[in-house]
Amino acid sequence: MIEFAIRHYDSIGSTSDEARRLAEAGAPHGTVVIAREQTAGRGRQGRQWASPPGNLYISIILCLGLAHTRLPELGFVAALAAADTVEAFTDRLVTLKWPNDVLVDAAKIAGILTEHADPAIILGIGINVGQAPTGTPYKTTTLNGPSVDAVGARLLEALAQHVTRWSQDGFAPIRAGWLARAHPPGTPLRIILGDAVIEGRFADLAPDGALLLRTGTITRRILAGEVLVAQSADR
Ligand code: BTN
Repeated sequence: MIEFAIRHYDSIGSTSDEARRLAEAGAPHGTVVIAREQTAGRGRQGRQWASPPGNLYISIILCLGLAHTRLPELGFVAALAAADTVEAFTDRLVTLKWPNDVLVDAAKIAGILTEHADPAIILGIGINVGQAPTGTPYKTTTLNGPSVDAVGARLLEALAQHVTRWSQDGFAPIRAGWLARAHPPGTPLRIILGDAVIEGRFADLAPDGALLLRTGTITRRILAGEVLVAQSADR
Protein backbone atom coordinates (compact mmCIF):
# COMPACT_ATOMS: atom_id res chain seq x y z
CA MET A 1 0.00 0.00 0.00
CA ILE A 2 1.16 3.56 -0.66
CA GLU A 3 2.17 5.69 2.33
CA PHE A 4 0.82 9.18 1.69
CA ALA A 5 2.46 12.35 3.07
CA ILE A 6 0.01 15.19 2.63
CA ARG A 7 0.85 18.89 2.18
CA HIS A 8 -2.11 21.25 2.56
CA TYR A 9 -2.22 24.65 0.89
CA ASP A 10 -4.81 27.36 1.21
CA SER A 11 -4.49 28.86 -2.27
CA ILE A 12 -2.13 27.73 -5.02
CA GLY A 13 -1.80 28.06 -8.81
CA SER A 14 -2.18 24.36 -9.60
CA THR A 15 -1.63 21.41 -7.23
CA SER A 16 -0.13 19.51 -10.18
CA ASP A 17 2.42 22.28 -10.84
CA GLU A 18 3.35 22.29 -7.15
CA ALA A 19 3.62 18.47 -7.12
CA ARG A 20 5.91 18.64 -10.17
CA ARG A 21 8.09 21.24 -8.43
CA LEU A 22 8.28 19.02 -5.34
CA ALA A 23 9.04 15.90 -7.42
CA GLU A 24 11.87 17.73 -9.18
CA ALA A 25 13.20 18.72 -5.75
CA GLY A 26 13.22 15.03 -4.73
CA ALA A 27 9.87 14.58 -2.95
CA PRO A 28 9.14 10.85 -2.66
CA HIS A 29 6.46 8.50 -3.99
CA GLY A 30 3.19 9.17 -2.16
CA THR A 31 3.68 12.91 -1.65
CA VAL A 32 0.26 14.56 -1.90
CA VAL A 33 -0.60 18.21 -2.56
CA ILE A 34 -4.09 19.39 -1.60
CA ALA A 35 -5.31 22.97 -2.00
CA ARG A 36 -8.49 24.68 -0.83
CA GLU A 37 -8.55 26.64 -4.09
CA GLN A 38 -6.47 26.88 -7.28
CA THR A 39 -5.90 30.10 -9.18
CA ALA A 40 -4.61 28.36 -12.34
CA GLY A 41 -6.27 24.93 -12.24
CA ARG A 42 -5.63 22.95 -15.42
CA GLY A 43 -7.85 20.40 -17.15
CA ARG A 44 -7.33 18.05 -20.09
CA GLN A 45 -7.00 19.40 -23.65
CA GLY A 46 -5.37 22.60 -22.34
CA ARG A 47 -8.61 23.68 -20.69
CA GLN A 48 -8.95 25.62 -17.48
CA TRP A 49 -10.30 23.75 -14.42
CA ALA A 50 -12.48 26.11 -12.38
CA SER A 51 -11.19 25.80 -8.82
CA PRO A 52 -13.10 27.87 -6.26
CA PRO A 53 -13.07 26.87 -2.57
CA GLY A 54 -15.51 24.04 -1.82
CA ASN A 55 -14.15 21.30 -4.10
CA LEU A 56 -11.28 18.81 -3.87
CA TYR A 57 -8.06 19.66 -5.74
CA ILE A 58 -5.41 17.03 -5.21
CA SER A 59 -2.21 15.90 -6.93
CA ILE A 60 -0.17 12.86 -6.03
CA ILE A 61 3.46 12.08 -6.86
CA LEU A 62 3.78 8.46 -7.94
CA CYS A 63 7.10 6.77 -8.66
CA LEU A 64 6.07 3.46 -10.13
CA GLY A 65 8.88 2.82 -12.60
CA LEU A 66 6.32 2.54 -15.39
CA ALA A 67 7.10 2.63 -19.11
CA HIS A 68 5.72 5.82 -20.67
CA THR A 69 3.36 3.76 -22.79
CA ARG A 70 1.55 2.60 -19.64
CA LEU A 71 0.73 6.11 -18.38
CA PRO A 72 -2.83 6.02 -19.82
CA GLU A 73 -3.55 2.97 -17.64
CA LEU A 74 -3.08 5.10 -14.54
CA GLY A 75 -5.87 7.42 -15.67
CA PHE A 76 -8.28 4.47 -15.65
CA VAL A 77 -7.00 3.30 -12.25
CA ALA A 78 -7.64 6.79 -10.89
CA ALA A 79 -11.07 6.98 -12.55
CA LEU A 80 -12.12 3.81 -10.73
CA ALA A 81 -10.86 5.22 -7.42
CA ALA A 82 -12.69 8.51 -8.03
CA ALA A 83 -15.88 6.65 -9.01
CA ASP A 84 -15.74 4.53 -5.82
CA THR A 85 -15.24 7.73 -3.82
CA VAL A 86 -18.14 9.55 -5.44
CA GLU A 87 -20.34 6.46 -5.01
CA ALA A 88 -19.60 6.46 -1.28
CA PHE A 89 -21.23 9.90 -0.96
CA THR A 90 -24.24 9.71 -3.29
CA ASP A 91 -27.17 7.44 -4.09
CA ARG A 92 -27.33 8.76 -7.67
CA LEU A 93 -26.01 6.81 -10.67
CA VAL A 94 -22.23 7.01 -11.06
CA THR A 95 -20.80 6.23 -14.51
CA LEU A 96 -17.54 6.70 -16.39
CA LYS A 97 -16.88 8.39 -19.73
CA TRP A 98 -13.75 7.90 -21.84
CA PRO A 99 -11.09 8.49 -20.98
CA ASN A 100 -11.29 9.28 -17.26
CA ASP A 101 -14.36 11.39 -16.49
CA VAL A 102 -16.62 10.48 -13.58
CA LEU A 103 -20.28 11.37 -14.12
CA VAL A 104 -23.25 11.47 -11.76
CA ASP A 105 -26.58 11.26 -13.56
CA ALA A 106 -24.67 12.00 -16.80
CA ALA A 107 -23.10 15.26 -15.47
CA LYS A 108 -19.36 15.54 -14.84
CA ILE A 109 -18.34 15.47 -11.18
CA ALA A 110 -14.65 14.57 -11.39
CA GLY A 111 -11.76 14.83 -13.82
CA ILE A 112 -8.26 13.38 -13.95
CA LEU A 113 -5.00 14.69 -15.38
CA THR A 114 -1.93 12.44 -15.62
CA GLU A 115 1.43 14.02 -16.45
CA HIS A 116 5.06 12.92 -16.58
CA ALA A 117 7.65 14.51 -14.30
CA ASP A 118 10.31 11.90 -15.08
CA PRO A 119 10.85 9.58 -13.38
CA ALA A 120 7.71 10.45 -11.40
CA ILE A 121 4.11 10.73 -12.55
CA ILE A 122 1.86 13.50 -11.31
CA LEU A 123 -1.72 12.34 -10.88
CA GLY A 124 -4.10 15.30 -10.54
CA ILE A 125 -7.72 14.77 -9.54
CA GLY A 126 -10.51 17.30 -9.14
CA ILE A 127 -13.84 16.36 -7.55
CA ASN A 128 -16.74 18.82 -7.44
CA VAL A 129 -17.79 18.45 -3.83
CA GLY A 130 -19.89 21.58 -3.31
CA GLN A 131 -19.35 23.86 -6.34
CA ALA A 132 -20.51 23.00 -9.88
CA PRO A 133 -18.46 24.88 -12.50
CA THR A 134 -20.47 26.83 -15.05
CA GLY A 135 -19.55 27.71 -18.63
CA THR A 136 -18.18 24.25 -19.38
CA PRO A 137 -18.95 22.44 -22.67
CA TYR A 138 -20.56 19.66 -20.60
CA LYS A 139 -23.06 19.44 -17.72
CA THR A 140 -21.58 19.50 -14.23
CA THR A 141 -22.81 18.46 -10.80
CA THR A 142 -21.61 18.18 -7.19
CA LEU A 143 -21.83 15.86 -4.21
CA ASN A 144 -23.69 18.41 -2.10
CA GLY A 145 -23.11 17.41 1.46
CA PRO A 146 -19.83 15.85 2.56
CA SER A 147 -16.77 17.77 3.68
CA VAL A 148 -13.89 18.14 1.23
CA ASP A 149 -11.60 16.48 3.79
CA ALA A 150 -13.83 13.40 4.02
CA VAL A 151 -13.88 13.07 0.22
CA GLY A 152 -10.09 13.48 0.04
CA ALA A 153 -9.49 10.81 2.68
CA ARG A 154 -11.83 8.37 0.94
CA LEU A 155 -10.17 9.05 -2.42
CA LEU A 156 -6.66 8.31 -1.14
CA GLU A 157 -7.89 5.06 0.43
CA ALA A 158 -9.54 3.97 -2.85
CA LEU A 159 -6.51 5.03 -4.86
CA ALA A 160 -4.13 3.00 -2.71
CA GLN A 161 -6.35 -0.07 -3.18
CA HIS A 162 -6.67 0.29 -6.95
CA VAL A 163 -2.97 1.08 -7.52
CA THR A 164 -2.02 -2.01 -5.48
CA ARG A 165 -4.42 -4.21 -7.46
CA TRP A 166 -3.09 -2.76 -10.72
CA SER A 167 0.54 -3.41 -9.67
CA GLN A 168 -0.31 -7.00 -8.74
CA ASP A 169 -2.76 -8.01 -11.45
CA GLY A 170 -2.05 -5.63 -14.34
CA PHE A 171 -4.46 -3.60 -16.44
CA ALA A 172 -6.99 -6.35 -17.29
CA PRO A 173 -9.12 -6.07 -14.08
CA ILE A 174 -8.94 -2.27 -14.21
CA ARG A 175 -10.14 -2.31 -17.83
CA ALA A 176 -12.98 -4.70 -16.89
CA GLY A 177 -13.99 -2.49 -13.95
CA TRP A 178 -13.97 0.59 -16.18
CA LEU A 179 -16.03 -1.13 -18.90
CA ALA A 180 -18.62 -2.22 -16.33
CA ARG A 181 -19.29 1.44 -15.44
CA ALA A 182 -18.82 3.10 -18.85
CA HIS A 183 -21.06 3.76 -21.84
CA PRO A 184 -22.02 0.31 -23.18
CA PRO A 185 -20.84 -0.94 -26.59
CA GLY A 186 -23.00 0.53 -29.34
CA THR A 187 -23.47 3.88 -27.56
CA PRO A 188 -23.37 6.73 -30.12
CA LEU A 189 -20.39 8.98 -29.35
CA ARG A 190 -19.14 12.25 -30.81
CA ILE A 191 -15.42 12.92 -30.44
CA ILE A 192 -14.27 16.55 -30.57
CA LEU A 193 -10.61 16.86 -31.47
CA GLY A 194 -9.70 20.50 -32.08
CA ASP A 195 -11.85 21.53 -35.03
CA ALA A 196 -12.52 17.94 -36.09
CA VAL A 197 -15.60 16.00 -35.07
CA ILE A 198 -15.76 12.22 -35.42
CA GLU A 199 -19.03 10.39 -34.91
CA GLY A 200 -19.45 6.71 -34.32
CA ARG A 201 -20.43 4.08 -31.81
CA PHE A 202 -18.44 2.92 -28.81
CA ALA A 203 -16.90 -0.47 -29.68
CA ASP A 204 -14.46 -1.21 -26.84
CA LEU A 205 -11.60 -0.03 -24.68
CA ALA A 206 -8.31 -1.26 -26.19
CA PRO A 207 -5.83 -3.01 -23.88
CA ASP A 208 -3.67 0.15 -24.02
CA GLY A 209 -6.57 2.45 -23.04
CA ALA A 210 -7.40 3.76 -26.54
CA LEU A 211 -11.07 4.27 -27.37
CA LEU A 212 -12.22 1.98 -30.17
CA LEU A 213 -14.89 3.76 -32.19
CA ARG A 214 -16.95 2.07 -34.88
CA THR A 215 -17.59 4.40 -37.82
CA GLY A 216 -19.44 2.53 -40.56
CA THR A 217 -17.37 -0.54 -41.33
CA ILE A 218 -14.17 0.85 -39.84
CA THR A 219 -12.99 0.68 -36.23
CA ARG A 220 -10.87 3.71 -35.35
CA ARG A 221 -8.45 4.06 -32.46
CA ILE A 222 -9.01 7.34 -30.63
CA LEU A 223 -6.13 8.45 -28.42
CA ALA A 224 -7.28 11.95 -27.44
CA GLY A 225 -10.32 14.17 -27.61
CA GLU A 226 -13.45 15.21 -25.77
CA VAL A 227 -16.19 12.61 -25.91
CA LEU A 228 -19.82 13.61 -26.00
CA VAL A 229 -22.30 10.84 -25.28
CA ALA A 230 -25.53 11.07 -27.29
CA GLN A 231 -28.45 11.92 -25.00
CA SER A 232 -30.49 8.87 -25.89
CA ALA A 233 -27.64 6.62 -24.85
CA ASP A 234 -26.99 8.20 -21.43
CA ARG A 235 -27.54 5.73 -18.65
C1 BTN B 1 -10.19 17.18 -16.76
O1 BTN B 1 -10.11 18.08 -17.62
O2 BTN B 1 -11.16 16.42 -16.73
C2 BTN B 1 -9.08 16.99 -15.76
C3 BTN B 1 -9.22 17.92 -14.59
C4 BTN B 1 -8.13 17.76 -13.56
C5 BTN B 1 -8.23 18.80 -12.47
C6 BTN B 1 -7.27 18.54 -11.34
S1 BTN B 1 -7.63 19.53 -9.92
C7 BTN B 1 -6.14 19.01 -9.20
C8 BTN B 1 -5.09 19.01 -10.29
N1 BTN B 1 -4.53 20.33 -10.47
C9 BTN B 1 -4.81 20.85 -11.66
O3 BTN B 1 -4.44 21.96 -12.06
N2 BTN B 1 -5.55 19.99 -12.37
C10 BTN B 1 -5.81 18.77 -11.64
